Amino acid sequence: MKVVDLENIDSTNSYAKSNIDTLEDKTLVFARRQNSGRGRLNRSWVDLGEGNLFLSFVLKPADKYRKILPNLTQYLSVCLCKVLETYGLKTQIKWPNDVLINGKKIAGILSETVMQGSILKGLVLGIGVNLNAQKYDVEQIPDRVVTALNIELNHNVDLDKFFNELTDEFFKGYDSFLENGFAQIKQDYIQRNCFIGKELNVQVFNSVEKGLAKSVNDNGELVLLNKDNKEIVLTIGDIL
Ligand code: BTN
Repeated sequence: MKVVDLENIDSTNSYAKSNIDTLEDKTLVFARRQNSGRGRLNRSWVDLGEGNLFLSFVLKPADKYRKILPNLTQYLSVCLCKVLETYGLKTQIKWPNDVLINGKKIAGILSETVMQGSILKGLVLGIGVNLNAQKYDVEQIPDRVVTALNIELNHNVDLDKFFNELTDEFFKGYDSFLENGFAQIKQDYIQRNCFIGKELNVQVFNSVEKGLAKSVNDNGELVLLNKDNKEIVLTIGDIL
């Protein structure tokens, strides 16, 4: 496992995508500061200062694993929960891959594929975790309620230690996850969910699907029951 250790970059995901040809499978692109971090749905990811985690996993799995790739964000969210729990915290997952502590978002995950025609050159799985932030700064983040690990624990967190814990947890089960897919983590994922049984509005591209969250199926998709009691199966989306 190789690590590209950068002092300051626009975005670790952008760096990994631009250098995909030269970066080996399982390379970690890590930056101490990130000045144009990107999030899902064209949002930005705010750098809350020194001591926060900005990391992209460069993955080049064989083509036969292609159908598993969308589930890697869910796999990473479960890995993150397990690490956070070693700090004595209770974690929750909001479909598909938001990790919450006390109802507040502590991390964001962005998966991007790099294609050449129909050939997959690689997948860049980016994660930002708020580890050391000022309460005032997290409160300024628009649209969502956010926290950081130091705020939850009342003490600063060692970034390098956390980096090792998260990447070790990820690679411990990564090869088998490619073989087993979502089934490998289904129980771990469901037991931490905070949305099943709730009435949800889910943004899917430009429309909003409404319904009662019934379950997460064996592919990691969200199953909603709409007002006519019909099942709607969502592969991607954002719970509003
Ligand atoms: C989200 O919208 O919740 C996803 C945020 C993902 C942020 C991480 S930080 C490291 C990597 N580089 C980026 O530009 N984005 C991801």
